[in-house]
Formats: sequence, C-alpha cells, structure tokens
Amino acid sequence: MSFQVQYEDYLKSINEKIEEYLPISDHKENIVCEAMAYSLVNGGKRIRPVLTLETCRLCAGSIEDALPLAVALECVHTYSLIHDDLPCMDNDDMRRGKPSCHKKFGEEYALLAGDGLLTYAFEIIASCKLSNEKKSKAVLCLSRYAGFNGMIGGQEIDLLSEGKEIDFEKLKIMHKKKTGCLIRCAVELGLIAGNPEGDFYEKLLLFADYLGLAFQIRDDILDVIGSPEELGKPIGSDKQSDKRTYVSMFGLEEAILLSKQATENALSLIKNFNDNEFLISLTESLLTRKN
Ligand code: IPE
Ligand code: IPE
Ligand code: MG
Ligand code: MG
Ligand code: MG
Repeated sequence: MSFQVQYEDYLKSINEKIEEYLPISDHKENIVCEAMAYSLVNGGKRIRPVLTLETCRLCAGSIEDALPLAVALECVHTYSLIHDDLPCMDNDDMRRGKPSCHKKFGEEYALLAGDGLLTYAFEIIASCKLSNEKKSKAVLCLSRYAGFNGMIGGQEIDLLSEGKEIDFEKLKIMHKKKTGCLIRCAVELGLIAGNPEGDFYEKLLLFADYLGLAFQIRDDILDVIGSPEELGKPIGSDKQSDKRTYVSMFGLEEAILLSKQATENALSLIKNFNDNEFLISLTESLLTRKN
C-alpha cells in the first residue's frame, strides 16, 4: 500500500471514530457540545492519532484497540488549540481553515469547549474496551503529557518568554513540552495499545522526541513562510506576539537546517525496524509540510 493510501485509510478510521464519539448534550442548551464538535470535526492533519495507530500496528496490536486512545488524544490536542487561540493566549482568529472557536462561539464557550474536550478524553479512555491495566496506563500517559509538566508547562514557558531573551536550553525545553509531549504521547498510546517487544518501546519514544522537535520547528518556519490559505491559520502570529521560536533565535536558514537535523535523528532510530516504510515516509513528509 502506498503511503498516501495508508494515510487516507487511517484518516477514514479516525474520522469515523470521532463521529461515533461526538458529544451529545443531555439538556436543551447545546452550545458547548456544538463548539466541541465544531473544532474537532473536519479539521487538522490528525498526525497524533495517525502516529498512535501506526505505532500500535508496528507492535502487533489491533487498530480497533488503539482507536479510542487516538480519538482521546485528538480531543486533548484540539482543546489545546482552542485555548491556544484565545485572546489571552495567542489571540488568533483562524484555525483549521475556519474562524477559531472563540470567534464563532465567544470566549466563554470556547473556554468550556476546551474544558469539555479535555475531560471527555478521559471518559473515552475509561469507557473503552481495553483491559483495566492498559486503560490505567493510557490515563497516566495522557494526563502526564498533557499536564502541568507537559503540554501545559510548555504553554506556560511560551507565555513567560514572550518578548524576552531566552537561551537555547530554554527554547528546547519549551518546544519539547508544548508540542513534543503530545507527539510522544501519541506514540506511547500506540505502544500501550499494542504489544511491544525488546528495545522497541525506548527507541520509538526517542524517535517521537526528535519528530516532535522537527514538527514544532516546522510550525515556527511556517509562521514565517507559510500561506494562510494552505495552513488554515494566520501567519506572522509569532512575530506579532514577540514569541521565542527557532526562527526568532536562529533565522530561517538555520531553523531549516535544525529541522532537517532533528528529522535525520528521528529517522536513524527507526531505520532498522521491519515494515517501517510508512513511518519513514510520514517523518519525511512532515519536514516539508505546507500545513
Ligand atoms: C498545531 O498542531 C499546533 C502545534 C503543536 C504545532 P498541528 O499542526 O498538528 O495542527 P492540526 O491538528 O493539523 O490542526
Ligand atoms: C502551540 O504552539 C502548541 C500548543 C500546545 C497548542 P503554537 O502556538 O505555535 O501553535 P499554532 O502555531 O498556534 O498552531
Ligand atoms: Mg501558542
Ligand atoms: Mg498559537
Ligand atoms: Mg505556531
């Protein structure tokens, strides 16, 4: 199967599962559920759930087992985007090719939709068919990577660094936390759903770290050279908020080199795996992605 066909296949399974899990309000007032679905449906590349499914497949797991974990992670990721766009955070009006959640529903409902998606993610895991042992591992994994020492911690450093000089170490930690953590989580959820053997676990997590770094460097680059139509979100947002990014610290050329380096490091960790073609193509495609 070609990379493109397998990716489309994964997207179909993920989007169908998301439809199955759409939140339903038990009272007449339905704005929060509508806002949750608005941001979740028909949006985004679904990189994280695709990584969860592919990791699970690589370690002999069933895609059906991995799907609820993949959807739960996409809920958390979508919540992080809704909150990231709020006026008190990055103040961005477009996301996934449409008005940001707060532009469509107002700030108060965007806040609640984010909260709703975060809590719903754990309901999805707790109520799925996996064994209790796997479920509790998945809950621990997602709560830690999304939490105050994970993605939220990274967002905190991002806010505290606006308009300030920071050193390279700090920039690396910020990227590792705000974006790397949920990419690592994607891979670890796939490992939990599957049956990894040998040094697979360790190597794939390290792979995810480099991939997450390359992913956020590319995000920084696209904020400068991307097209808002292709990206589905505004460009120039980082400069406007005086954010610390790989481009602001190193310039465009050097940032591109560093994203290549991180991608090569990621690839070197998976080069000896069996059946690795999809993961290699995915990693390579993210280096030059336009959205
Ligand atoms: C955007 O993530 C935020 C970052 C962590 C860089 P994605 O680029 O994966 O956004 P979607 O899910 O495709 O919209
Ligand atoms: C976002 O980083 C990381 C999150 C946890 C959402 P950015 O603020 O650079 O993401 P975009 O560019 O708005 O998608
Ligand atoms: Mg941000
Ligand atoms: Mg942002
Ligand atoms: Mg960005």
